Amino acid sequence: MNILIINGPNLNLLGRRQPEIYGPFSFDDYFKGLQAQFPHMHLEYFQSNHEGALLDKLHGAGSEADGIVLNAGALTHTSIALADAVAAIRTPVVEVHISNVYKREPFRHHSYLSACCEGVIVGLGLEGYRLAVEWLVRRTKVSEKLEGKE
Ligand code: DQA
Repeated sequence: MNILIINGPNLNLLGRRQPEIYGPFSFDDYFKGLQAQFPHMHLEYFQSNHEGALLDKLHGAGSEADGIVLNAGALTHTSIALADAVAAIRTPVVEVHISNVYKREPFRHHSYLSACCEGVIVGLGLEGYRLAVEWLVRRTKVSEKLEGKE
């Protein structure tokens, strides 16, 4: 099973950026631990500060990945293009936010992506990514059972 984690703008700075909000760990370190927790799965990580690169990755993963975990950072609150890309692909997408955006500034309360995603995990820190991966694994198993593939 292939799961792709996509992080958007400024999330390359995790561990150094506002650690009181986003925590003290870099995503690379967290990702190594995550891979160790899912040894039988192919987990891929992609980060970009560029909207177009995120769009291209979503289009590609739309046919290659079994599930996508997406934290689009601030583009969550502004990008209709990313929402359209999520809606256009068949791969299920889970939206994740490290911080509880609803406890923060009002401009963070709206997401263009949520309505196009299977679900949303907000405010549980980096653990949100693990929970999203777990859910995608279970979802695939349930779909396979329903389709009689098991
Ligand atoms: C974020 C929340 C966004 O509002 C912010 O712009 C980010 C990170 C989060 O993970 O909490 O860059 O997506």
